[in-house]
Amino acid sequence: MSGSKEEDRKGSGEWREFFWNPRTHELLGRTATSWGLILLFYLIFYLFLAGMFVLTMYVMLLTLDDYKPTWQDRLATPGMMIRPKGEQLEISFSVSETESWDGFVQNLNTFLAPYNDSYQVQTNDNCVPDQYFIQEDSGEVRNNPKRSCQFNRTMLEDCSGLTDRFYGYSRGQPCILIKLNRVIGMLPGKEGQSPYVSCGAKKEDSDKIGPLAYFPANGTFNLMYYPYYGKRAQVNYTQPLVAVKFLNVSLNTDVNVECKITSNTLAAGGERDKFAGRVSFKLRVNDKQN
Ligand SMILES: *[C@@H]1O[C@H](CO)[C@@H](O)[C@H](O)[C@H]1NC(C)=O
Ligand SMILES: *[C@@H]1O[C@H](CO)[C@@H](O)[C@H](O)[C@H]1NC(C)=O
Ligand SMILES: *[C@@H]1O[C@H](CO)[C@@H](O)[C@H](O)[C@H]1NC(C)=O
Ligand SMILES: *[C@@H]1O[C@H](CO)[C@@H](O)[C@H](O)[C@H]1NC(C)=O
Ligand SMILES: *[C@@H]1O[C@H](CO)[C@@H](O)[C@H](O)[C@H]1NC(C)=O
Repeated sequence: MSGSKEEDRKGSGEWREFFWNPRTHELLGRTATSWGLILLFYLIFYLFLAGMFVLTMYVMLLTLDDYKPTWQDRLATPGMMIRPKGEQLEISFSVSETESWDGFVQNLNTFLAPYNDSYQVQTNDNCVPDQYFIQEDSGEVRNNPKRSCQFNRTMLEDCSGLTDRFYGYSRGQPCILIKLNRVIGMLPGKEGQSPYVSCGAKKEDSDKIGPLAYFPANGTFNLMYYPYYGKRAQVNYTQPLVAVKFLNVSLNTDVNVECKITSNTLAAGGERDKFAGRVSFKLRVNDKQN
């Protein structure tokens, strides 16, 4: 019993001695010099890390360019998008129920407002068609801001919402707008050949899709709208569009439509990338069958 008390005292004495040893002047088993060296080491170590971080950031920021993204998706062929935006790429409405397509019409009106001819004339140039509108910087001298070409709303003709303000929805001949996602610097055609959009039905629906009309003619994205130099450099850039009008699509049935781009420089997206250069959507036009 007394032995264990002795051990206790001895134990706590060892602890006290470990914390502060008056004989060797050691704190937690180290002398003041040893502690000093450790603190110095960590101080230098962390200063060095902070220095590395600042230097890396500085170099990174130096290489960033306000006008061009340093990194952008290296998709060989960009994706495409449709307007009006429906839920999950589905355009479904009933001809006789105005409220079922009114949202689509509003969506297109809003989307096309900046395409108004009067607005385009104010902001953009009347460019030479079928050739690139090149405005490179000469060395370090920035050629900014860069001009852009007019894409007039009237070029969409029957799908402009001007001649038919319901874009065909009230007559079961809906218009769908297609745009190619922007890629800075992309040159989508050569030898004056503009890329064009063509739409078709997935196999089992091929007898339901009916004839189509494209605006502008042949469904082309004219070369004059390329290359795109980015939002900062080309402030008034107006993205070219192709409108597809379904002239006699079968009623009361789903039609799976696929639109794709054909170009002599962009490779068609293979099986690997189902979204490259194409867009698929479901179209359904309902009406009473009499
Ligand atoms: C564009 O034109 C349409 C139809 O003429 C008009 O309703 C709309 O207010 C115009 N939008 C702008 C922004 O000028
Ligand atoms: C756009 O419309 C304006 C006014 O109608 C016209 O002067 C201009 O030539 C048109 N631009 C294009 C590219 O068609
Ligand atoms: C952009 O449009 C505005 C008018 O809205 C015009 O004053 C300006 O010059 C245009 N900028 C370029 C670079 O085209
Ligand atoms: C559309 O294509 C046809 C046949 O390839 C061609 O003759 C015509 O000039 C093209 N139209 C336009 C506006 O590019
Ligand atoms: C529209 O397509 C239907 C078959 O789906 C056909 O019977 C009809 O004749 C076509 N109408 C026109 C105007 O082509």
